Amino acid sequence: MRMVDLIEKKRDGETLTNEEIKFIVDGYTKDEIPDYQMSAWAMAVFFRGMTDEESAALTDAIVHSGDTIDLSAIEGTKVDKHSTGGVGDTTTLVLAPLVASAGVPVAKMSGRGLGHTGGTIDKLEAIPGFSVEISNDRFIELVNRNKVAVIGQTADLTPADKKLYSLRDVTATVNSIPLIASSIMSKKLASGADAIVLDVKTGSGAFMKELDDAKELARTMVKIGNDLGRNTSAVISDMTQPLGYAIGNALEMKEAIDTLKGQGPEDLTELCLVLGSHMVVLAGKAETLEEARSMLENVMKDGSALAHLKKFAESQNGDPDVIEHPEKLPQAAYTYEVKAKESGYVSGIVADKIGTAAMVLGAGRATKQSEIDLAVGLVLRRKIGDRVEEGETLVTVHSNSENTDDCVKRIYESYTISQDKTDAPPLIYDVMK
Ligand code: URA
Ligand code: CA
Repeated sequence: MRMVDLIEKKRDGETLTNEEIKFIVDGYTKDEIPDYQMSAWAMAVFFRGMTDEESAALTDAIVHSGDTIDLSAIEGTKVDKHSTGGVGDTTTLVLAPLVASAGVPVAKMSGRGLGHTGGTIDKLEAIPGFSVEISNDRFIELVNRNKVAVIGQTADLTPADKKLYSLRDVTATVNSIPLIASSIMSKKLASGADAIVLDVKTGSGAFMKELDDAKELARTMVKIGNDLGRNTSAVISDMTQPLGYAIGNALEMKEAIDTLKGQGPEDLTELCLVLGSHMVVLAGKAETLEEARSMLENVMKDGSALAHLKKFAESQNGDPDVIEHPEKLPQAAYTYEVKAKESGYVSGIVADKIGTAAMVLGAGRATKQSEIDLAVGLVLRRKIGDRVEEGETLVTVHSNSENTDDCVKRIYESYTISQDKTDAPPLIYDVMK
C-alpha cells in the first residue's frame, strides 16, 4: 500500500477499507508516514467526511496504537462518562459518588489538563490530603470495595491520537466530526470502559457551538461505541452559560457537596440526574431511566450519596471532615462583589469569556507548567433569565490578589443585561442511544 494512493482515494470521495485505515494509523504512529502526507489526508477527510464504518475503523486503529487498560478484575459493568467540555463543569465530582452509591462501579483515570479551571484531579485535590497516586492493585481493590476510585493516568494510551491531534491543531483540521469523534472515543475505549455516557455540550462555551453539529457529533460517537461493542448513550446539553454557579476548583468541590446533599444548583442537579440515570441503566442496575432516576433521587435524599463521597475521599487519603465542614477547603484571601451597573434581566453570559475571568485569577492552567490556585474562582449570583437591580451582585470573585481588575473587566464583558424578560435556555436538547 502507498500513502499517496490512499490520500488520493479520500480526496476523490471514495471509502477507505478497514485495512487501509489501519495502514495509515500504524504507519503514522511509527513515523513511517510523514506529517505532510498525514496533513493532506486529514484535510481530505475534513472535506470528504467518513462513513460510519470508516469512523469506527479509525477509532479501533487509534485504540490499538498504544496501551489499553484492562479493568476485568473489577466486578460489574464499568460505565464511563465523558463531557466534551465546558466551563465550570462539576458533573464528574457529583456523578462519581452518586452512581457509585447506586452500585455502579466508577473506575476513573483522569488527567489534569489545560483550561479555565483544573481537571477532575485538581478539583479532588482541593480536599486536603487527597491523592490519586495509588497503585493499580489498590485502585482495583478500592473500586471493588467502594465502587469508586480515581487514579492519575500513567499508561501510554492512544499515541496515534496525541500525534494526530497536535497535527490537526496546526493544519486547520480539528473541526471535522469523524476526526473529533474517533479522537474522543478512542481514549474512552482504550481506558477500558464497558459502556459510555457522553455529555455533548452545545452553545457559546462549547466546542460545538451549533446544535446541529453537536447532534451529528453525538450520533457519530454513539454509533462508533455501539459498533465497537460498548453500549453508548449521549445527552446533548446546554453550554450557552456555565453550568451551576461555581467556577474554580475548591468552589466546585463545595458545589458538588451541596448537590450531593440535594441542595445544589437546579441545572447541575438535573444534568447529574439525567446523566446518572443513563449510567445506572447501562450498568444494568435498573431497567428503565425512570427507575434509575428514582434510585438516584433516593440516595441524594437519604444521605448515602454524600456518605459515599466521604468514604471515597478517606480511602484516597483525603480529610473526610471536609464533607461536613466545607470551610476546610482552601479559601481565598479576598472576596469581591461585582455589581450590576444597570437594572434588567440577564440575557447572556458568554461561558468561555467568564471561564477566562476565573483563569486569570489562577483557577486554571494556561500551559502545562502553570501552577493552579485551588482556592480562587467565581460564584455566579445571577444566571440567564434572572432579574437584577442596579447595585446588586452579579458575581462574587474569590481571589488571592487584591488586584482583580482584569478579572472584573472580563466578567462585565461576559454579561449582557437587557430590558426585556429573557427565558433561561433549555438544559437538555436531545438524547441518543
Ligand atoms: N477533544 C478531543 O479529545 N479530540 C478532538 O479531536 C477534539 C476535542
Ligand atoms: Ca459549576
